Amino acid sequence: MQTARVVVDKDFRIGEIDPRLYGSFVEHLGRCVYGGIFEPGHPAADEMGFRQDVLDLVRELGVPFVRYPGGNFVSGYDWRDGVGPVEDRPRRLDLAWMSTETNAVGTNEFAAWAARAGAEVNLAVNLGTAGIDEARALVEYCNHPGGSYWSDLRRAHGVAEPHAIKTWCLGNEMDAVWQLGHKTADEYGRLACQTAIAMTWVDPAIELVACGSSHARMPTFPQWEASVLDHVYEYVDYLSLHTYARNLDDDLGTFLAQSLAMDAQIEAVAATCDFVKAKKRLKKTMMLAFDEWNVWYHTRDADKALLREAPWRVAPPLCEEPYTLEDALVVGCMVISLLKHADRVKIACLAQLVNAIAPISTRRGGGAWRQTTFFPFLHASRYGRGAALDVQVSSPCYANAEFDAVPLLEATATYDEEREALTIFAVNRGQEDALRLEGDIRAFPGYKVVEHLVLRHENPKAVNTLARPTEVAPHGGDAGCRDGALTATLPRLSWNVIRLGGAPAHATERTHGRAEHPH
Ligand code: AHR
Repeated sequence: MQTARVVVDKDFRIGEIDPRLYGSFVEHLGRCVYGGIFEPGHPAADEMGFRQDVLDLVRELGVPFVRYPGGNFVSGYDWRDGVGPVEDRPRRLDLAWMSTETNAVGTNEFAAWAARAGAEVNLAVNLGTAGIDEARALVEYCNHPGGSYWSDLRRAHGVAEPHAIKTWCLGNEMDAVWQLGHKTADEYGRLACQTAIAMTWVDPAIELVACGSSHARMPTFPQWEASVLDHVYEYVDYLSLHTYARNLDDDLGTFLAQSLAMDAQIEAVAATCDFVKAKKRLKKTMMLAFDEWNVWYHTRDADKALLREAPWRVAPPLCEEPYTLEDALVVGCMVISLLKHADRVKIACLAQLVNAIAPISTRRGGGAWRQTTFFPFLHASRYGRGAALDVQVSSPCYANAEFDAVPLLEATATYDEEREALTIFAVNRGQEDALRLEGDIRAFPGYKVVEHLVLRHENPKAVNTLARPTEVAPHGGDAGCRDGALTATLPRLSWNVIRLGGAPAHATERTHGRAEHPH
């Protein structure tokens, strides 16, 4: 068995973890809204039609922040279609997903759902087919107390108190040819700047996210970022990043290394922001919103065929990825990448939340279950709190054509000082063998292992289904710690969470991880 080492010290901090790093995304796409969070008539639906079984899973996942309503969808969306009496709302063609939008769920319903989920709403405005006027009207509708046309309309729609939505996205993926109304960087930069000014004149308390590139393989990346920031740097708080890891050639070694590309993407965007900051001689450091990230590749061809054969359906089953253990490991590595950049990435949204490229799946009229990817996200959102630590990792590597040398061990750690909780997140990318982990945690005297969670499966292609919902589920591992020396076996192809605690209330006196854990 090969060995990898980590040195963890509470004084080596990357930055405080913003809870919004564990955000997610609900788009009017496929069955994310209709048949996902909202299914009137379902036995688990509440009086508004929201599925309680889905809400329970969302609350379990600990999502504090949810982007809405798109995505590609927002670039053709008229938010006014989705407010007021439901029976008066128009059915529209959604050109982004070749679907029919009933508008049964709109801004007020989504805000009500998010309140039930315990999440803050992050709204995107349409800068594809719409512009400044629609955006400033939406801010007024949502955030102005009353006494103006749009705020009084909200009140007339039965919502007396403003939604007080703080974070707003200035459009979506405006660099992309697949985006309705896509623009050049200068066109978008000017529009985003003017829209940002109008929106903040309505409500100076809001924060704004400008669109970065749709992904780092776009031919205009990262010049798009530099040009857009030339226009908007002073007027926005965040620049967005998006990425979807894929395994089109069934090349697991390359797929597992996708988080290295994510690291590089974050570092390139941060460097571009800092270039514009220096050029403009500004003090403000631009923060990053990785507001779409996930694994997405299983269903793309099937989705195209489905839309070709039966376009314009209401809530067609699009992007319903059956996530494998392999996919969960990549999601785990991507979460680690976000934590390693917690000083710059303040917002991140796992795209998406239910059914469409999602950690939660539902059957119409039936049950809901956790996909494999649910678990690394859950563990990070539950235990990855406090400060992100700068962990020194020494690991054997494997050779890879795209990434040269890929470390077998991907790892990071978080430290919640108040709770005296140290958590190490680690993925063994090794396809053949277990990896022995040795950790130097002498900076945490007296800390003991509270729990070692391991997500693995004999078959890396294993998935969870409604019939077998716990086929891939976490179990206990063998981590132990004595006198500041941590040891653990990381099984081949596994996601590991090693939780250590200092105070007796948090740490049991045993030296080894627990045998079984439900999640
Ligand atoms: O999340 C699915 C889609 O991916 C979003 O609508 C779009 O922004 C991205 O291309």
